[in-house]
Amino acid sequence: MGVMLGSSAVARGRNGVIRSRRHDSQQRSAELTQVGWFEQCLAQVRSECDWLSPAEVARLEAARIPKRREDLRLGRWTAKLAVAAYLNLPSDPSTLAAIELRPDASGAPWVFFEDRPAPVSISLSHRGGRAVCAVAAPGALLGCDLEIAELRWNAFITDYFTDQEQELIARVSDSQRWAVLALLWSAKESTLKALRVGLRIDTRQVVVESVGGMIRAANCVSREFGNGGSLDTWHRLRTHCERRNFYGWWQSSGIFVRTMVSEPELGPPIPLQPPLT
Ligand SMILES: CC(C)(COP(=O)(O)OP(=O)(O)OC[C@H]1O[C@@H](n2cnc3c(N)ncnc32)[C@H](O)[C@@H]1OP(=O)(O)O)[C@@H](O)C(=O)NCCC(=O)NCCS
Repeated sequence: MGVMLGSSAVARGRNGVIRSRRHDSQQRSAELTQVGWFEQCLAQVRSECDWLSPAEVARLEAARIPKRREDLRLGRWTAKLAVAAYLNLPSDPSTLAAIELRPDASGAPWVFFEDRPAPVSISLSHRGGRAVCAVAAPGALLGCDLEIAELRWNAFITDYFTDQEQELIARVSDSQRWAVLALLWSAKESTLKALRVGLRIDTRQVVVESVGGMIRAANCVSREFGNGGSLDTWHRLRTHCERRNFYGWWQSSGIFVRTMVSEPELGPPIPLQPPLT
């Protein structure tokens, strides 16, 4: 399986991120600039609980709201498979149970394998019966988010967006407004996750840069908003929060908008392919 957890010598393979076990400095730099991406929907989650750790089962049972239980389950399923693919581990239930997601006090997930910190950074999002997980090398500040383009109240726009962002939202055509709003919101949430603070700070402190340019570029090359789009096509984005800069990517297909931001800058997300069991 070629995994040396807790060290930089992690051999990856089946996801196509790292093909060789050579671990020269060139390969190491390639690893550090790559981010894996994996998505699942509710119907794909294994119905038994044998892939969850005892602590995760307890957390699930403690969640009183059925929707929260469902999201927790879907999120863990997606993240464990993503981590297994990234670390070139098998994806049988007992290996998945040994991959544990432990939330810190802020709710941000940390990954453990066989009770030791796993050499990955992850970020997780669930929305509309789908979950996404981004995985990168340890140490990267990483945030990802999945949003649905949907009608929002005006108060949502005035309360959570900067004046410049509000101007942009007002300028775009009616047909694009909700997708643009979802993109801006998602980029903010990704940034708040990368900072590991979540919605504890004012979302207007997170500024999404040059969205107008991004949207014009996207419209020139495709009709991504609300239409086709594919997971292969990612567009650049940038955000900042106070003096910290984040680099990222966004993508849209159907009603879904996906964003991912990081520090340092990483390449466009690469689809992970967990091994079949
Ligand atoms: C992080 C946050 C912005 C996520 O927004 P969301 O749109 O509701 O949910 P998403 O599905 O996109 O993301 C949820 C995931 O973000 C991750 N997350 C939660 N808090 C996080 C934090 N501080 N930093 C990074 N990631 C975090 C978790 O993995 C969570 O999924 P999980 O709980 O199933 O593990 C939001 O949940 C938040 O701010 N939480 C902190 C504040 C809080 O706990 N409030 C109490 C509820 S009102």
